Amino acid sequence: MNLIQLASHGPVIPVIVIHRLEDAVPMAQALVDGGVRVLEITLRTPVALKCMAAITAAVPQAIVGAGTVRTVNDAKVAFDAGCRFAVSPGYTEAIGRACRDLGLPLLPGVATASEVMAANADGLNFLKFFPATAAGGIAMLKALHGPFPDVVFCPTGGITVQTAPQFLALPNVKVCGGSWLTPPDAVEAGDWKRITELAREASILFA
Ligand code: 3PG
Repeated sequence: MNLIQLASHGPVIPVIVIHRLEDAVPMAQALVDGGVRVLEITLRTPVALKCMAAITAAVPQAIVGAGTVRTVNDAKVAFDAGCRFAVSPGYTEAIGRACRDLGLPLLPGVATASEVMAANADGLNFLKFFPATAAGGIAMLKALHGPFPDVVFCPTGGITVQTAPQFLALPNVKVCGGSWLTPPDAVEAGDWKRITELAREASILFA
């Protein structure tokens, strides 16, 4: 898969933290039912890898990627779990090389012009802008567009259903990331209907 294709499935990539393995498949199905297919499952819980494998097996429409990939080993285990892409909060050459070697498309996080240049130097020009709101938000994305007109961003961090359209209106933004599609209380209660509604609302966001 070419990484930029991730942006062609809809305007929002949910950033997901799963604490209970049994929630993984119904949560993924709820998101897919709402029209959201690209799922970033973060490597922040002990069950994350099992959740990725379970979703890949049971929800074939889902395009599962690993989030919070911080090390080369994270990239390897995510690949082994069947992930089709990786998202990292920052960028290192080592992670870039590991993902290239694995054939695992990488969406690396950047927050400064120097980080954009480091990722560009390794052939990456579709980048996560993280933490989007804290790192300057819309003003920073506009400023980066001048020197980097060929770079496309997926801003993530602090974005809401209300603010996403303003990000999506920028010429250098094709998709946003956010955790608002899977609120912890809805997951805790098994309220999959609410998650489908949030996904449906996100899937039709436009600038
Ligand atoms: C994260 O790292 O958890 C993501 O950037 C999501 O951030 P958000 O919870 O502000 O959407």
